[in-house]
Amino acid sequence: MRVLLLGSGGREHAMAWKMAKSSHLEELFIAPGNAGTRLHGTNVDMSATDFPAIKEFVLKESINMVVVGPEDPLVKGIHDFFLADAELKNVPVIGPSKEAAQLEGSKDFAKAFMMRHNIPTAKYATFTKDTLEAGYKFLEGMKAPYVLKADGLAAGKGVLIIDNLKEAKAELKSMLADAKFGDASSRVVIEQFLSGIECSVFVLTDGDSYKILPEAKDYKRIGEGDTGLNTGGMGAVSPVPFCDKTYMDKIENQIIIPTVKGLKNDKILYKGFIFFGLINVKGEPYVIEYNCRMGDPETEVVMPRLKSDLLDLLEGVATNTLSECDIQFEDRSACTVMMVAGGYPEEYQKGKVINGLNTIVDSIVFHAGTASDGPVVVSNGGRVLAVTSYGKNLEIALERSYNSISKISFDAANYRKDIGFDVV
Ligand code: AMP
Ligand code: GLY
Repeated sequence: MRVLLLGSGGREHAMAWKMAKSSHLEELFIAPGNAGTRLHGTNVDMSATDFPAIKEFVLKESINMVVVGPEDPLVKGIHDFFLADAELKNVPVIGPSKEAAQLEGSKDFAKAFMMRHNIPTAKYATFTKDTLEAGYKFLEGMKAPYVLKADGLAAGKGVLIIDNLKEAKAELKSMLADAKFGDASSRVVIEQFLSGIECSVFVLTDGDSYKILPEAKDYKRIGEGDTGLNTGGMGAVSPVPFCDKTYMDKIENQIIIPTVKGLKNDKILYKGFIFFGLINVKGEPYVIEYNCRMGDPETEVVMPRLKSDLLDLLEGVATNTLSECDIQFEDRSACTVMMVAGGYPEEYQKGKVINGLNTIVDSIVFHAGTASDGPVVVSNGGRVLAVTSYGKNLEIALERSYNSISKISFDAANYRKDIGFDVV
């Protein structure tokens, strides 16, 4: 297979690493990729949302499969773009259609979908600037804390959890009337606050059947003890100790099956990964969010725990034969700890030389935001490296990652020293 993988983060490096182990792989291209992905294939200087350039490249290189890492190209309709093009329509795209990607691209769409299919989620209502007054009334009828969500994609910043009513009303106004998140907040979902512990569950589907991948827990806040600003994710562990068989069975029966069936019944084309962001409320799973892609940094522990050939599974998705594929997992645990640029998630600097990468033997270093400057690897984003390790349990895996991190350096590097603190 000649594969084009779109994206440039730690998720894509982990996928490229996994694809490179596949017996089906003939050649792998990553667009745009980073200094890590080039170890497993050829980086192509092309944006993941430049559809005409992608078309030209796919035809020139006789690509047989396009795998989409991030949500942006999906929400912009890359799957539909391929299906509508006579020259591309037989090249499978792993990732949902534009309509299906609304599960991530529109909170209101996702909530309506869950209501329609009886999938457990927080109670909600959606408002626009024309219904601002009704939004205030709705807030008055709720208890603190208040959860306000910009309907559209807002680079992970569109969810506000606010303790006091006055402030919640002011934020609602700022989102709806003053376009705080631009177009993304032209609609706002207000929902009931749920209290519990979160985890991420991933499913691969061909639209009919599905395979559940290893679950993971990520650590979103910048500060130890889950404090401070939200980030893209500072680390992850898999398996998640509280995701025992009873809980996973509930997730499958109450959430995964109704989602896959619901998509099919609604005639919404979904071929790819579904990310379920879940919260455990007194033993019952609720959906906090859907994403139409794999998680990052969760992929950096999920791919290492997948024993089966990834391209074999993706081929099953492309040909609607996923049900015939075998899926096996590592018994070993895996963790990843993100090394980030000082200042992230606020202002930070790029271009810092990274030292020590070649000395790491006990971990796999997935590059998140890096670039090559000749033979030198430099930082090129807020999240820079995801240091992943295996262990016979999470404690051992974590010890290995922290030991590896002590050998890697770049100016003003920062990382959380307590990944896994609440589950080990
Ligand atoms: P989202 O972008 O929808 O995943 O929301 C970001 C984060 O906000 C989630 O990971 C949760 O920690 C939190 N959150 C979102 N919705 C709720 C809710 N209804 N109750 C409690 N926390 C929530
Ligand atoms: N780690 C959360 C996400 O990928 O959205």
